[in-house]
Amino acid sequence: MARIIDIHAHGAQDAAIDALSSGQCVAIPTETVYGLAADATNGVAVASIFEMKGRPRFNPLICHVDGLKMAETIGAFDPVSRKLAEHFWPGPLTLVVPRRVESDIHDLVTADLDTVAIRAPDGPSRAVITGFGKPLAAPSANRSGRISPTTAAHVSEEFADRDLLILDAGPARVGLESTIARVDGNRIILLRPGGVDADQLAAISGLPVEQAQANGRIEAPGMLESHYAPDAGVVIDVTRCPQAAALLAFGPDDGNGNGNGKDRSGASEMRNLSPTADLAQAAANLYSMLKELDSGKPSLIAVEPIPREGLGTAINDRLRRAAAPRDQENKAR
Ligand code: TXA
Ligand code: MG
Repeated sequence: MARIIDIHAHGAQDAAIDALSSGQCVAIPTETVYGLAADATNGVAVASIFEMKGRPRFNPLICHVDGLKMAETIGAFDPVSRKLAEHFWPGPLTLVVPRRVESDIHDLVTADLDTVAIRAPDGPSRAVITGFGKPLAAPSANRSGRISPTTAAHVSEEFADRDLLILDAGPARVGLESTIARVDGNRIILLRPGGVDADQLAAISGLPVEQAQANGRIEAPGMLESHYAPDAGVVIDVTRCPQAAALLAFGPDDGNGNGNGKDRSGASEMRNLSPTADLAQAAANLYSMLKELDSGKPSLIAVEPIPREGLGTAINDRLRRAAAPRDQENKAR
C-alpha cells in the first residue's frame, strides 16, 4: 500500500532516508512535479524505478542534488553551465553536462551516455537529499507515458498497489517538468521547455538558445511524440468546443459560459486553467485539471489556445504530446 506522509511531520524525512538507504524508491515532492526517487548509485534501486514506471531502459534519468557542490561530484561544469546553475538553482532547470568518469552514478541512470542530467530541486526535498548525502535519480512519479503527478494523491493513484512511501508537500508550485538544457560551445541547446524559459536562459548566459533537433537519437525523450496522455483523446487550439467534449478553457468567461470569442457552449464539463489568462497559474493547474476532466471519462478533451510565449511554450509542448497519435511504438515511457 502506498503511504502518504507530510514531509514536515516528525520523523518523515528520516523514514525516507532509511528507505532510500535500503534501496527502496520514495516519492518526493519538488516544485515542478512529484518524483519517484532512488539512490542513484544503487543499480538495483534504480532498476526498480524503471520497473515501477514501466519505462524503457534507454531513457535516462535526472540526478537530483542539493546544490552545485554535490552536482560537481558527478558532472563536469563548464563556466556557462556553472553560471546557469548558480542563478537558477534550486529551481526548475536541468543541466546536461559531461559525466565524471570517477563518479559512482550507476550506468542505468545515464543509460550509458557520457553525459548526465542534473538539477537541484526547490522545496523541502532538498533537506532529504542533504541528509542522504548522495544524488537521487528521479523521473516523474507516474506510469510511463501518462500525466505527471502534481500532488501526493496523484502519486498514490498511480501506485496504489505498491509499497511506496510518498512524502507530501502539497501541490507542486510550478506544475510542469523542469527545462532541460545543454551548453554546446557558444550556444545553448534546449532539450525540453519547462519552468525556466528560453529568454531567461539567454539573458543569464549571454548565449543564443536553440531548439534541439529530433534527429532520431534520444537526447530528451520528452521528445518522443505521445506523452503526458490522458485516457481521453485530446484536441488543442480549440475555439469552438465540440458537442459533449470536456473543455479545458483558458482566459475570461463572459458570464454566459463563453469567453472572448470562444464558444464554450458544447462543453459537457469545463475547467479553466486561468480565468485571468495567467500562464504560471495555467501551468500549475494543467496536469490536475487534465486528470479531473479525464476522470469523467469523456471521449474527447478539447483545449483552448494558450499563448506561445514564456511558460506558454512549455504548456503547448506538453499539450501537443498529450494530443499526439498514440500507439505502442510511439508512446514515451
Ligand atoms: O521536473 C523534472 O524534471 C521532474 C522532477 C521529478 O525533477 N523529472 C522529470 O524526469 O521530468 P523524467 O524522467 O520524466 O524526464 C527526464 C528527461 C527525460 O526526457 C530524459 O530523456 C532526459 O531527462 N535526460 C536524462 N538524462 C539525459 C542526458 N544525459 N541527456 C539528455 N537527456 C537526458
Ligand atoms: Mg516524466
